[in-house]
Amino acid sequence: MSKIKKIGVLTSGGDAPGMNAAIRAVVRTGIYSGLSVYGIKRGYQGMIEGDIFEMKTTDVSNIIQRGGTILKTARSKEFMTEEGMKKSYDQIRKHGIEGLVLIGGDGTFRGANVFFEKYIIPAIGIPGTIDKDLIGSDSTIGFDTAVNTAMEAIDKIRDTAEAHDRVFIIEVMGRDAGYIALNSGIAGGAEDILIPEEITNINEVLNRIENDERRKKTVHLIVVAEGDDFGGARELHAAISERMPLLDVRTCILGHIQRGGSPTASDRVLASRLGHAAVMALIEGKTQFMAGVKNNEIVFTPFNKVAKGSDPISKDILSLISILSH
Ligand code: F6P
Repeated sequence: MSKIKKIGVLTSGGDAPGMNAAIRAVVRTGIYSGLSVYGIKRGYQGMIEGDIFEMKTTDVSNIIQRGGTILKTARSKEFMTEEGMKKSYDQIRKHGIEGLVLIGGDGTFRGANVFFEKYIIPAIGIPGTIDKDLIGSDSTIGFDTAVNTAMEAIDKIRDTAEAHDRVFIIEVMGRDAGYIALNSGIAGGAEDILIPEEITNINEVLNRIENDERRKKTVHLIVVAEGDDFGGARELHAAISERMPLLDVRTCILGHIQRGGSPTASDRVLASRLGHAAVMALIEGKTQFMAGVKNNEIVFTPFNKVAKGSDPISKDILSLISILSH
């Protein structure tokens, strides 16, 4: 039998498609297991302000297919202050919450790590970020949807690029991580993929474009992560136009489109599994771990490890780019 009776759930940081499916799984698993489940609005900011309400199973009806997060989300600067953390703790105590499920990305777990070193409240994390920039899970909730959204956009751009014989630069999200660029770029058949994890050699990129022009390969799609070391789409466009002023180049920045939309089946299943696993872990007395999936098995990684960065990008996948776009 579980010793805890009340748990809270929040979503924090950038929203990600599938967060609603995770909230649903937490609420339904919790209530099924005899717990009361409280929703905390707007992430840590709502925790500070006591924006907390009890959730029933019907509160999560008809949300599994919806993007965004019904709990809303925020990036709270106040939470990282002594005072913010104290206020949060007081609100948690006031509502009698004995365990937390935190759905978010690296910032969420960095915050959790600092908070829980000081205030002992059991907590389990669920990776919810389109960036997939966390250690401890083969995927994160929202990543698959974002990659598919970007891939569909790349497919559409390819049609028009082909019609006009144009070079296209498509900028995707990823401040520190290139996974969206890498996966959508490979799936969309991009000629170049530029990511923060690899140093961009701009001369090599320009030479490849020139080479393609010479051998009449007239469509050249470059997918660049917003956080690439050379810069984003604008910087790249300027560099190409400087070297090849007569070339027909266009730029498309996909931006927040990648964060919205109905989650893919894969994200919904991941969210459902992790939501369930997080609640069961709290019931079993686990604390300060992020639940993840590795090799299709649920695994738990300590917050302090998760907050330290992401798994390295596989060299095998990187080597595919130039071979397959040749
Ligand atoms: O962390 C997810 C993410 O979408 C990043 O890829 C992006 O850099 C950032 O959030 C954008 O944040 P905001 O919505 O606050 O502009």
